Amino acid sequence: MAPVTDKIKNLDTKHFLHPWQDCSSELSDYNMIVRSEGIYLYDANGNKYIDGPGGMWCVNIGYGRKEIAKEIASQCEKLPYSSPWFSSTEPAARLAHKLSTLTPSDLNTVFFTTCGSTALDSAIRFVHFYFNCLNQSEKKIIIAREKGYHGSTLLSSSISGKERDKRYLDTIGTGIEFVSDVNPNLRNSETSEKEWCEIKVSELEKKILDVGPDKVAAFVAEPVLASGGVILPPKGYHLMTWEVCKKYKILYISDEVVTGFGRLGHWFSSEEIFDFVPDIITCAKGLTSGYIPMGATIISDSLMKDIKASKNNNELLFANGFTYSGHPVAAAAALKTIEIMESEKILQHVQEIAPHFQKRIKGLGEKYNCIRHARGIGLLGCLEGHSDKNLNEDDRLAFDHHFGSIIDKAAEKRGLLLRPIINMCVFSPPLIITKTEIDLMFDILDDAVLEVEKHFQ
Ligand SMILES: Cc1ncc(COP(=O)(O)O)c(C=O)c1O
Repeated sequence: MAPVTDKIKNLDTKHFLHPWQDCSSELSDYNMIVRSEGIYLYDANGNKYIDGPGGMWCVNIGYGRKEIAKEIASQCEKLPYSSPWFSSTEPAARLAHKLSTLTPSDLNTVFFTTCGSTALDSAIRFVHFYFNCLNQSEKKIIIAREKGYHGSTLLSSSISGKERDKRYLDTIGTGIEFVSDVNPNLRNSETSEKEWCEIKVSELEKKILDVGPDKVAAFVAEPVLASGGVILPPKGYHLMTWEVCKKYKILYISDEVVTGFGRLGHWFSSEEIFDFVPDIITCAKGLTSGYIPMGATIISDSLMKDIKASKNNNELLFANGFTYSGHPVAAAAALKTIEIMESEKILQHVQEIAPHFQKRIKGLGEKYNCIRHARGIGLLGCLEGHSDKNLNEDDRLAFDHHFGSIIDKAAEKRGLLLRPIINMCVFSPPLIITKTEIDLMFDILDDAVLEVEKHFQ
């Protein structure tokens, strides 16, 4: 590595505390990425990688989009910022309108945030606000799910259900209830997927009845549990849980931070794939394709109308907001992202190539013993590892626990980046990936798994 890069690496090691960094060690060894193009990243040593995770499930339209760079630069020159408290800007107003045309049904009111976490925070705060305005202030409890991930602020991490992430970090202990993991792979051989679905839906209903429907404000769920390991709920689950929520007048927040903006071949997946219309949708990531931070909490007209019609004579201030809500530069980048997705017909492209992508994932699952589950939907995928039967107990445990990082290392040296999560690795490449590039990606992955499987036999 060139000396200048060594120096920068040292600066990084000394001063940059990365997300999810292991702080037990002095050493951090992050690869220095210096350039990007299409679906590829280049490091300081000149190595070229397919970006398997698409950044962090976000670089949907791929790298090196000069149109976006130009739009950002031009908006910076014209108007880099204007306070959303006292003014509005053309990009923010246009983007709010555009989003209202992409969301299902009457989800037409957009609250802009800085990222996915603040979109979830704002959704929860809006739910509390809504019931306070309606003089139902006892309706406060949020029901969330084990293995869900909704962000890293105190509130969004508190509605997240990944126990390991809470080991050394405190979260809010009151006002949030959890229901168990929906992963259909956890069911025993005597339980059908339909029965599993009914069990999970009944559990939600029981939780609502135990807590008291007059105390439960909202249910929050990702259409597909993303960081939880690309877990697809059993068929019909979302619609049935939505029906339970309606029955007890509980709001449904659909967290589409990962599944929005084409990842599953549609702008949003709640209605198009899972047949229900939530009260609130949260999004971020693909909204600007990772070129600049932005998120949004999109609220139904009917909730806004209820607030306006409430018999509350006070000023109803939604006292929640960010200096950068509706940031004109981010809004301009988002509008350009959406324009590119429309002009290049990226949703149709995903619908066309996703079956091939999924076939290649399933193929790996069928080929290798060390893969317990190979799953996905759209351009989302996950390989979950497990020990080969010939291993002794220690090796088996080590393998299970490190499967993600072992595969990641084997793939990285062959030119493919993945995202390891304990015993899994997940991938969500830029949506512009071609069929040939999908084959290249899975050929590399195949080779990487072969090495790992051999090593552990
Ligand atoms: C489903 C989901 N919701 C919310 C978030 C939080 O988004 P951000 O990291 O932009 O705050 C994430 C991040 O990965 C996510 O996967």
